[in-house]
Amino acid sequence: MENPAQKKEKPKILLAYSGGLDTSVAIHWLNQMHGCDVVTVTVDVGQTDDLKDAMRRARAIGASRAWVIDAKKEFAESYVLPALKANALYEGSYPLGTAIARPLMVAKLVEMAKRLGADTIAHGCTGKGNDQVRFEVSIMALAPDMKIMAPTREWKMSREDEIEYAKANGIPIPVTVDAPYSIDESVWSRAIECGVLEDPWEEPPESIYGWTKGVGATPDKPEYVEIGFVEGKPVSLNGVQMELLDIIVALNEVAGNHGVGRIDIIENRLVGIKSREIYEAPGATVLIKAHQDLEGMVLPKDLLHYKKTVEQHYADLVYNGLWFSPLKTALDAFVDSTQENVTGTVKVKLHKGSAVVVGRESPCSLYSAALSTYDKGDAFDHSAAKGFIYVWGLPLKVGALARAARANGNGVSNDSAVIEEPCATCK
Ligand code: ARG
Repeated sequence: MENPAQKKEKPKILLAYSGGLDTSVAIHWLNQMHGCDVVTVTVDVGQTDDLKDAMRRARAIGASRAWVIDAKKEFAESYVLPALKANALYEGSYPLGTAIARPLMVAKLVEMAKRLGADTIAHGCTGKGNDQVRFEVSIMALAPDMKIMAPTREWKMSREDEIEYAKANGIPIPVTVDAPYSIDESVWSRAIECGVLEDPWEEPPESIYGWTKGVGATPDKPEYVEIGFVEGKPVSLNGVQMELLDIIVALNEVAGNHGVGRIDIIENRLVGIKSREIYEAPGATVLIKAHQDLEGMVLPKDLLHYKKTVEQHYADLVYNGLWFSPLKTALDAFVDSTQENVTGTVKVKLHKGSAVVVGRESPCSLYSAALSTYDKGDAFDHSAAKGFIYVWGLPLKVGALARAARANGNGVSNDSAVIEEPCATCK
């Protein structure tokens, strides 16, 4: 028999807490509507927000405990690095800073849920975005029995309603009706959505940018950075050996100061919606460009070209929330096997919003000055080109001759022979 004096324990929910509007409202809502014991976990992947303050706010709103996990280094080493080796850019532009942070957050949440004995993980992602998919699919992969709650999908409040709800319930929030932006940061990129940005024609106001200067405010003098790679991994900046995390942080600062890495695109979400997305990714932009360039010097042509097709799949898969999938593991193995010789140094010039590779060197270089030079010392056998071209162009020549013969045989004048006529036998 249950002892009525013994109070029934409230169900414990672990909430992935960003400190933003949705998750702040979610703490209150889960407390009030579901009578849950809400424990918040904030995973630090390099957000510039004051996470200690977020932790205090979580407690003030009603979380019974609030945790911050510093996962910046793990993020750089185990999430950014594989993506960088794959030159992962969704739809050719977005370096996936939000998409690669979600699986790491889930890994940490699942660890904590097991430690604290919570059987439910909640997140603040809306029903229209990619992040809900990434969160939930990652939970399904890592903890198939875990229950999942998504309050923002249930409460049917608009962003304005949420701001009102927060005001009415004394919930401290970082947005106002005038600055209604939803901002998501990891050290790999900063994403800005909502408000005036939802009009694709409207130029983003300068005030939304946090990591990059507008070109008008950048230095007139270019700045050069040299990135050293070993087997695809950035290991030094301007000759100084550094951890990958520190290289990214430093490049965000240096390249951001030159206005590098602003991205303004119409993006295709997994849930079928086109959205206007603004990103700032100075470090990612420089590192991906440098890495791609070095690969251009050290990878054989067929491997380089084939890898590009893999890169595209890789970016799609990561964007679509399948980080913890067998295909992703297999693609990582392929990508890793291509990186053995991606060692060397790349020089990048930063100036007025652009990052341009202006030099590269590698002990594994396949570039041969003797073969490519037009000057003295040329080692290329020019006479070999004649035979090569004869063979290379032969199928085209044979085709052209056959077409001409058909055209003439059919009584068509040579002048009209360009008009393709099916031949009698193929009709
Ligand atoms: N569109 C990007 C993605 O799906 C960024 C999402 C940013 N999220 C946010 N809460 N602002 O990865």
